[in-house]
Amino acid sequence: MRLSRSILPALFFSSLFTATLALADGDPARGQGLYVVCATCHGQNGEGSQEQNAPSLAGREQWYLARQLHNFKAGVRGAHADDVYGKMMAPMALILPDDQAIEDVAAYVASLK
Ligand code: HEC
Repeated sequence: MRLSRSILPALFFSSLFTATLALADGDPARGQGLYVVCATCHGQNGEGSQEQNAPSLAGREQWYLARQLHNFKAGVRGAHADDVYGKMMAPMALILPDDQAIEDVAAYVASLK
């Protein structure tokens, strides 16, 4: 009993840690496929487009890109009625089905020069 009480949480947290590491990796090859839609506003090479009000994304840190995509998905960004440009982006984040897809597309964008 004593043993399992000390080991189980350790196993639980180590599996969480492994999952986090796997996510943080991101797969740029998978992300490239997801980025096809994004390129219509942010440009083929992530250079951005002022006409579309879409900022450049190329070379930004993966962790920052992933955080913003989570924020758009959760309605932390792009939900306010006056946030005209944020509201253009928020539905785009929703096409990324899960956390892995967010990491994959962020890894691809971060790799763009
Ligand atoms: C319809 C055009 C459009 C499409 C398609 C689009 N975006 Fe955006 N995106 C925008 C706009 C506009 C903004 C600026 C939002 C703002 O001003 O708050 C933005 C902002 C962002 C930001 C935040 C940048 C920062 O500096 O904080 C990220 C990250 C992003 N987009 C990633 C993506 C990804 C990944 C996709 C594809 C899944 C995508 N976008 C598809 C228009 C688009």
